[in-house]
Amino acid sequence: MDNIRIEGGSTLSGRVAISGAKNAALPILAAAILGDGESTIRNVPDLRDIGTMARLLRHLGLDVSRRDDHHVLDIVARPVAHDDAPYELVKQMRASVLVLGPLVARYGRARVSLPGGCAIGARPIDQHLKGLEAMGAKIELEHGYVIASTSGPLRGAEVVFDVPTVTGTENLMMAAALARGRTTLVNAAREPEVEELGRVLNKMGGHVEGAGTDTVIIEGREGLHPVDHAIIPDRIEAGTFAVAAAATGGDVLLAGISIEPIEAIAHKLRRAGVEVRSEEGGVRVRGHRPIRPTNLTTEPHPGFPTDMQAQLMVLMCLAEGTSVITETIFENRFMHVAELQRMGATIEVRGRSAIVRGPCVLNGAPVMATDLRASASLVIAGLVARGTTDVLRVYHIDRGYERIEEKLAALGAAVRRVPGAA
Ligand code: EPU
Repeated sequence: MDNIRIEGGSTLSGRVAISGAKNAALPILAAAILGDGESTIRNVPDLRDIGTMARLLRHLGLDVSRRDDHHVLDIVARPVAHDDAPYELVKQMRASVLVLGPLVARYGRARVSLPGGCAIGARPIDQHLKGLEAMGAKIELEHGYVIASTSGPLRGAEVVFDVPTVTGTENLMMAAALARGRTTLVNAAREPEVEELGRVLNKMGGHVEGAGTDTVIIEGREGLHPVDHAIIPDRIEAGTFAVAAAATGGDVLLAGISIEPIEAIAHKLRRAGVEVRSEEGGVRVRGHRPIRPTNLTTEPHPGFPTDMQAQLMVLMCLAEGTSVITETIFENRFMHVAELQRMGATIEVRGRSAIVRGPCVLNGAPVMATDLRASASLVIAGLVARGTTDVLRVYHIDRGYERIEEKLAALGAAVRRVPGAA
């Protein structure tokens, strides 16, 4: 597996093009199951998770091809050959569960491996199942698989989520798009990626209102048609580069994204003394010293995203004082802490909070994390550390960041990919 080797100490400057959003692309690719014919999805990031979803769709019987410009995917949907998401694929990517809603809505049956334990916590799918059941599906668990089936079309229903769930809301929006009658999703996730899926379902001939708010109303349709759509920019990739710019005292233009989807991140960065402002063509981030300690608590959108918690923690290691970072979404999302401690950070975990005592001097070290965003935080730590940092098992970063080492190198970082043993 490849590693990323970083010589710390560079200051990032220049312009970085933000790729399409992974977490918007994944449900949109799954939505292709809902209508026959050829869809074209543009601005798709070239990532391992997208490759996994493409393999899953091919397994089901859809044709998925990438154009020479790797960011355009053509998907030909036709009646599926299989109705299952096998363990092999679900264990690589939990978001494979996104085919559950479309398959049962369109074909009356889906068999999806349970995701099981995952690096960032238990992550159950009970809310997805509760919603499908309310819509008339029969749910059985067998040999580690969920089997959802229905003899006729799904029926519209009111579903009140116990917790706002992103992929749960998306799964039920897709199921409801082909259900008979109206579905109301209450306490729905409000993430921009959910809103984007609503836009796409409407372009496919669906009727979705309120996506991006806590109440989503879907009027079911008999059929949907293919779509040509360009994916929104990735707010988490943008946030990650913003923190990298701030931590190195740099000056970077995040090109192609506007301030709105990253407002919660920008707000915390400004509190830490970082300049973040809209500019022609993107958002400019300028790091300044001293970095001010800043408390943060992860929350569902529009609160501070859990997917940016690890990266902000690195910035807080550099701050002049103590910050408290509280993770409320996932119970096991502090895997980066032990690695940051090995680099010299002073962080104490107390339950769901991490107390970060800055400023720390970070020293390069071989480090590894088992989660995508934790790995990204270690890359940022490597950029500000003294000496060489090897981030091992880059597999995780490749799941969600498109050629991160090339983008960082273009901004002036001393970063390269070191091919590992196969
Ligand atoms: N939850 C339940 N029951 C459910 C579903 C969720 O209890 O049926 C709980 C989870 O355990 C968690 C909370 O609800 O405590 C929120 O989880 P959610 O379902 O929203 O997470 P997800 O849909 O599995 C998506 C993103 C994650 C991101 C989270 C939170 C995709 C493909 N994944 O996951 O992205 O962290 O929302 O914003 O959209 C990443 O990109 O690195 C990543 C992990």
